[in-house]
Amino acid sequence: MAKPPLSMKPTGWFQVAWSAELDPGDVRRMKYFDREMIAWRTSSGQAVVMDAYCEHLGAHLGYGGHVEGEVIECPFHGWQWNTEGRNVCIPYQDRPNRGRRIRSYPVAERNDSIYIWHDIDGRAPYFDAPDIFGSFGDTSTAADYYPPMTLFREGLELHPQYVLENGVDFAHFKFVHKTPIIPVFTRHDFAEPWSYVDFTITFEGDESQSIDDVRSGVEAINGGLGIAVTKSWGMVDNRTISAITPVDDRTSDVRFMVYIGRTPGRDDQRAEEKAGEFGAEVIRQFTQDVHIWSHQRYSDPPALATAEYEGFTALRKWATQFYPDGRGGNAADLQTSGAATSSEKGSTR
Ligand code: FES
Ligand SMILES: [Fe+2]
Repeated sequence: MAKPPLSMKPTGWFQVAWSAELDPGDVRRMKYFDREMIAWRTSSGQAVVMDAYCEHLGAHLGYGGHVEGEVIECPFHGWQWNTEGRNVCIPYQDRPNRGRRIRSYPVAERNDSIYIWHDIDGRAPYFDAPDIFGSFGDTSTAADYYPPMTLFREGLELHPQYVLENGVDFAHFKFVHKTPIIPVFTRHDFAEPWSYVDFTITFEGDESQSIDDVRSGVEAINGGLGIAVTKSWGMVDNRTISAITPVDDRTSDVRFMVYIGRTPGRDDQRAEEKAGEFGAEVIRQFTQDVHIWSHQRYSDPPALATAEYEGFTALRKWATQFYPDGRGGNAADLQTSGAATSSEKGSTR
């Protein structure tokens, strides 16, 4: 275990809760990006995430703050703050304090999840959080899938980038996930804040088969560093979401979801049980990765096999755009090994 030499304050969309954890009127405490935050939901259903401290005299709104319609009221002196963090009422004065504002975060609610946009410079969102159905360009909807199964692991010593590197790490599938043969990549596209990684993979058969004969695979979209969505083809229909959110400069929360497709014409209990078993297996495989990631030390530059060079280099270069210091560590490039030191400095910002 080691403190990652990469910034833990990257820009992008990050999950802070599941939608079902926040009912209208609820106020939840949380800590992400080294800041005390609260999430609350208005009576009309809007999810809000903001810093936790009242701008009046600093009460923590997560301890006794309560939702009144579309505002949150501080327990200390009753000041009310709206969904943008603006003061809208001081109960013992005829005017609110229009100047003061609690820092609030852009929220996107999709994939049964609550995502916030994080940018230490306060820039507005310039890309979207991916949608587990819409982003793959097909016509599937939630109705074609069983409700998602989830995994939540709190405060692990890992960086979001480790999880995305897993997607270009073809060799680990055989060793961590026991696939009979090593998968091959069919797409690496790192041109935009969303990157695309597709590969051919099978969990069936033995090691004598050729990857050229395999007719199944996975398409993955990394929506920045915080959210990765996958869609399978040629095997049990499943989609997954991994969402990794930095808590402080050492640890992250890990959330994972798996959706198993319904079989048309088969809505019986047996089919549902089978789906549940397959979902549990996908989660088990993900926990095998988590076990590695949460004890790993970021290797920069890593010792790469020749075939690994392209994918890792592309991913690590792509990742740098999300770091406030512009550096994310460079794959297999001895000339820039000083980058690790400067990004370490950056991570304390
Ligand atoms: S500290 Fe919140 S109203 Fe006074
Ligand atoms: Fe993996």
